[in-house]
Amino acid sequence: MSSSVGSPLSAPLRDFFASLAYINCHTIRGTPANGVFGPDLTHLMSRWTIGAGAARNTRENLYTWVEDPAALKLGGFMPAMKVSREELEALTSYLVTLQ
Ligand code: HEM
Repeated sequence: MSSSVGSPLSAPLRDFFASLAYINCHTIRGTPANGVFGPDLTHLMSRWTIGAGAARNTRENLYTWVEDPAALKLGGFMPAMKVSREELEALTSYLVTLQ
């Protein structure tokens, strides 16, 4: 998973990200993630809100969103990503680099 978008990723993180289902649901241009079911995340941090206005687009809310989207938006179509706290931190740290 090249990380020409956002910050460079360490090999374990690259493998971890590539193993996640999100690459089938979200697009991050310049990476293998080319899903269209969910919003394009290439310039995620250029958005004020996430979940179509459900919450402010902050690091804390992104962490909560990936951990349990229903905590911020009932009835949304994104599943909870059942990953460890460390992985959630790594995912959130990557997401906030998507300017
Ligand atoms: C680690 C994995 C994932 C991450 C980091 C992630 C990240 C995100 C983020 C940041 C948003 C908010 C985007 C915005 O509103 O601008 C979002 C929304 C969404 N994601 Fe994911 N996602 C992941 C996995 C998935 C998967 C596996 C699916 C499909 C089964 C999915 C489907 C969606 C959908 C449908 C939305 C829009 C929800 C709504 O507005 O109601 N995501 N995701």
